[in-house]
Amino acid sequence: MSDLFLTGIGELTTNTGSPIRDAVVAVEGGAITYAGAANDAPGQTGERIDCEGGAVLPGFVDAHTHLVFAGDRSDEFARRLAGESYADIAASGGGILATVASTRTAGEEELFSLAAARVWRMIRSGTTTVEIKSGYGLDTETELRLLAVACRIGQELPVTVKTTFLGGHSVPPEYRHDREAYLDLLVEEMLPAAAPLSDYCDVFVEDGVFSVDEARRIFSRAAELGMGARVHAEQLGRTGGALLAAEIGAVSADHLDFADEEDAHALAAAGVAAVLVPGASYTLRSRQAPGPMLAGAGCTVALATDCNPGTSYFESMVPILSLGVVAMGLTVTQALAAATVGGARSLGLDDRGTIEIGKPADLIVLAAPSAGHLVYRPGADLVRRTIKEGVPIA
Ligand code: NIG
Ligand code: FE
Repeated sequence: MSDLFLTGIGELTTNTGSPIRDAVVAVEGGAITYAGAANDAPGQTGERIDCEGGAVLPGFVDAHTHLVFAGDRSDEFARRLAGESYADIAASGGGILATVASTRTAGEEELFSLAAARVWRMIRSGTTTVEIKSGYGLDTETELRLLAVACRIGQELPVTVKTTFLGGHSVPPEYRHDREAYLDLLVEEMLPAAAPLSDYCDVFVEDGVFSVDEARRIFSRAAELGMGARVHAEQLGRTGGALLAAEIGAVSADHLDFADEEDAHALAAAGVAAVLVPGASYTLRSRQAPGPMLAGAGCTVALATDCNPGTSYFESMVPILSLGVVAMGLTVTQALAAATVGGARSLGLDDRGTIEIGKPADLIVLAAPSAGHLVYRPGADLVRRTIKEGVPIA
């Protein structure tokens, strides 16, 4: 843990108050010891980084990804552009099950190296915390392999990882004619085996995937095993996932493209974070989640990449910020908070997403004078440095 002294910060976004101009950040032992005006800064200790007027903000917290997978589905992207729907492609054997087929045949080392390359690109784009779901195994052995890879990412790369078991992503082909048997397997064998490797359990609640009642059964077993709940809810239609998330006290309801005011109020009242993934709606050319309405109802809003090979192959949070503003209608300030402290709250990480004395120094230094430039210039490579717990890593 090196000591750092960041000077020449044009604008410091702390997420604890208004941005501070002409700022300095000091770090000792990986934690922030000063963050404020240059005038009042303590004497320099440790390595000095001159930000040359660039902005500094908290590292991105990407609270929803499916980044452990093998295979290539770029053909489906072309088919969708030619007019086929996501549901049609899934019904013809593509979609999630195509990635399940290629992921089942990949060994742990191959999956780790594919996932680590994706996470390194995320880190270079400013991400310092990432949630990683399983869900492309759909059998006990492969799901455990995906979770083991996710845990290794957190141990071997300079990034904080939270893991989520998503055995309820789809019914695998071998159980197509006996979904009850798959649910039994999920609840009786997969969940207990996955629990030691998983912080959370997630279920894709959608017409034709898992019903609210099926999801309730899975989440109830997960709760007995000490796993928190995150819910894929209201992505392709309004099917009750958000109200279920509120009912069971999930930590997050994710996607929410079709959520309405009733959902928003239920989520806010139950303290369920709304994790929104505008990259998926953009890629599918479908409806964006009602981000401003969810924020107005009092929900904690997070923005995430949803990094996956089907609906949202985004690794960087930078274009997601821009989509959150330009396509979804959040303000620049709301989007920046959603991509940092909002994601952290949705993952129960009270010590990430802000720049405050005593907190770990997870920081981004920009080659631009304010954090708003990330939204304004989404195609520019503005992340100059990523700092993880006081160590410059990219
Ligand atoms: O978040 N909604 C379900 N899961 C992913 C898509 C997965 C895939 O197409 O491979 C999503 O959009
Ligand atoms: Fe997703």
